[in-house]
Amino acid sequence: MKFGDYIMPAEKEGKEKHVPFIEAPEIVKKGEFFQITITVGKEVPHPNTVEHHIKWIQVFAVIEGRPYNPVHVATFDMGPTYSNPEVSFKMKLEANATLFVLEYCNVHGLWENYKSIKVE
Ligand SMILES: [Fe+2]
Repeated sequence: MKFGDYIMPAEKEGKEKHVPFIEAPEIVKKGEFFQITITVGKEVPHPNTVEHHIKWIQVFAVIEGRPYNPVHVATFDMGPTYSNPEVSFKMKLEANATLFVLEYCNVHGLWENYKSIKVE
């Protein structure tokens, strides 16, 4: 058994959407900051109450050629009702990478998505 066994597959989605939507360029320039936006519940807003909310979003990068992966890129810890699970920030890469985004719903657990980014 592995911890990853507890990350929900996208097929488990019900009417409340959890899989984080990632907006980032397909190709970026080496060492230059680019914008990334992550939204949970982009089309159908997820509940945002004390009883049921998105608690955090984490971003990791699996970088091509790096001996140890993943690298932690960012963590956003959100309080219910006052914040919306949409985060935007800048990051940079020195080599091709796949970004993995994890999010935690206090009722429905862990969900993930990923996006590969080419560096030139
Ligand atoms: Fe949920």
